[in-house]
Amino acid sequence: MRTQVAIIGAGPSGLLLGQLLARAGVDTVILERHTPDYVLGRIRAGVLEQGTVETIEEANVAGRLHREGLVHHGIEIAARGERHRIDFNALVGKSVVVYGQTEVTRDLMDARRAAGAKTVYEAEDVSLHGFDGNAPVVRYRHGGLDHELACDYIAGCDGYHGVSRQSVPAGALTTHERVYPFGWVGVLVDQPPVSDELIYVNHERGFALCSMRSHTRSRYYVQCSLDDRVESWTDDRFWAELRSRLDDRANAKLVTGPSIEKSIAPLRSFVAEPLRFGRLLLAGDAAHIVPPTGAKGLNLAASDVRYLSRALADWFRRGDPKGLDTYSARCLKRIWLAERFSWWMTMLLHRFPGTDSFGTRIQEADLTLLFGSRASQQSLAENYVGLPFD
Ligand code: APR
Ligand code: PHB
Repeated sequence: MRTQVAIIGAGPSGLLLGQLLARAGVDTVILERHTPDYVLGRIRAGVLEQGTVETIEEANVAGRLHREGLVHHGIEIAARGERHRIDFNALVGKSVVVYGQTEVTRDLMDARRAAGAKTVYEAEDVSLHGFDGNAPVVRYRHGGLDHELACDYIAGCDGYHGVSRQSVPAGALTTHERVYPFGWVGVLVDQPPVSDELIYVNHERGFALCSMRSHTRSRYYVQCSLDDRVESWTDDRFWAELRSRLDDRANAKLVTGPSIEKSIAPLRSFVAEPLRFGRLLLAGDAAHIVPPTGAKGLNLAASDVRYLSRALADWFRRGDPKGLDTYSARCLKRIWLAERFSWWMTMLLHRFPGTDSFGTRIQEADLTLLFGSRASQQSLAENYVGLPFD
């Protein structure tokens, strides 16, 4: 089999890239390790920057997003018994759209199926070869048989644990990492959200977040210990812990119920540089991880894919290598800005086990600055809604 771009991974990065390339007349094959249901089963943040919405529009898959997505003009931050609204409209004249990553992925899968583009699900033992030359090849097993996919470029969109980044020769890659000493336990529930907007909470018992998927489906998180197991978080324990971290006004509105999904995620910051190795290009979680606090994971993946789709389209249409040559540097500029913001939001809102009095006081000063300074609020707003593309 032969294609122009072999895409490894059918998460949001791989599917969005496939869709944008299809619209540019570039042929792709996606190889995905799991089934479609498995891919759709992972629950992730659902806050889309305007730039992400525009990229999804460019891919022609924004119909349901526009019908069902909730436009949010601000967020609330609760700390020290006060709640402060960060008014995106007033501060930076922009907003975000709340629409779950699962739904983005579902829309992209449907569009790819409708376009008749090839996706091989349950592709096993994917291996990447020859990307340092002009004729890369991807090998894999499917249905008990060995297959070979020849291509011009390989897009590594296979997430943090994927094979693409691991295929890069040692020494060609530099990695940077922060592992935070806590996780988030998250619950999805078919009940209306406590508020029209997201509430981020810094409480002495730890961070909490009230989020949503729709007017009838809510998503809540509480900071938990790294060695907590999801089985030890019964629904009753979760709701009691969430209640203990929310203010009276939020508690009066909180409607609990049986969880329809519950999971624990560790928090990590990670960047691998560069993003290009000959004819292998990394995008999304394959190249970087952010803690979920700033809701940047999906937006950063969409930003990589926006650059990559244009770079590949320019190459295949006109033989212009400029986009591919500058791909890594352009992505990394935005990646590090989003890494900084996600790290800062994480430091601001969590309780760090074993932190000293200096760390505690610095966090208090950061909250004082945010609540008292319009410039500080504007900086948060500017980053949250998404920095402009160059
Ligand atoms: N072979 C084929 N597919 C693989 C392999 C492999 N060896 N390893 C992983 N994959 C698949 C995974 O099964 C998954 O479906 O690659 C896909 C990667 O998807 P994601 O992990 O969702 O990564 P990405 O598409 O970059 O999306 C980034 O996901 O983690 C969130 O917050 C993050 O919202 C961001 C988004
Ligand atoms: C979510 O709705 O899952 C969500 C929203 C905002 C975040 C993180 C997660 O910062």
